[in-house]
Amino acid sequence: MYGPVIQGKLVSLRPPRPEDAPLMITWFEDMEITRFLALRHPPNLEYEKEWLDKTARDPNSVIWVVEHGGAVVGVTGIHEINWKFGYGTTGTIIGDKRQWGKGLARELMQLRARYAFTELPLRKLKSQYYDGNVASGKAQAAAGYQVVGRGRKEAFIGGKWVDAIMTEVLREDWEKANPV
Ligand SMILES: CC(C)(COP(=O)(O)OP(=O)(O)OC[C@H]1O[C@@H](n2cnc3c(N)ncnc32)[C@H](O)[C@@H]1OP(=O)(O)O)[C@@H](O)C(=O)NCCC(=O)NCCS
Repeated sequence: MYGPVIQGKLVSLRPPRPEDAPLMITWFEDMEITRFLALRHPPNLEYEKEWLDKTARDPNSVIWVVEHGGAVVGVTGIHEINWKFGYGTTGTIIGDKRQWGKGLARELMQLRARYAFTELPLRKLKSQYYDGNVASGKAQAAAGYQVVGRGRKEAFIGGKWVDAIMTEVLREDWEKANPV
């Protein structure tokens, strides 16, 4: 599924369009962008179009394109949603490096959590980041994610095995931090 339009102060989230695919594949050409990602080899255009199409029909995913200043700068989503137990796994790429460090991820993760807990019946969002991805860890923490575990030596990055740091935010904790 695609997510509906959500307007923030810095970013807006909107459903992807097929014409976003050519830009999206360029993000995976840059090793600085993919350094802390599981997907570190660029897909081709067909693959990206298929992924957008497949995800649109997947009842267990919600994805958005991230816009800033009227331009597409990234993609984010809630994946592998388990509706029975009410959790999903979140992920984000700000593919336009010029926009890093401006608070876009922090805001979009807050908007995404609000959507998950006020428009969907989810009770937990899970995520992870590889050790060293300071920006991802900080943005997640600002959206209420807590560190809950550590997968040792899960990824090979820059000549070293690095740990995966597991995080999650529970609905009840989010509600306490965001009273209506
Ligand atoms: C990780 C990523 C999503 C962060 O996006 P962003 O929009 O640059 O993050 P923000 O600007 O919201 O910054 C969040 C926090 O990290 C800090 N930060 C940003 N870039 C940083 C850097 N390179 N080093 C250290 N801290 C950094 C910010 O100061 C902010 O901290 P604060 O909350 O204390 O103010 C983005 O860098 C990205 O897409 N990277 C490539 C893909 C990726 O790694 N995705 C995440 C996989 S888990």
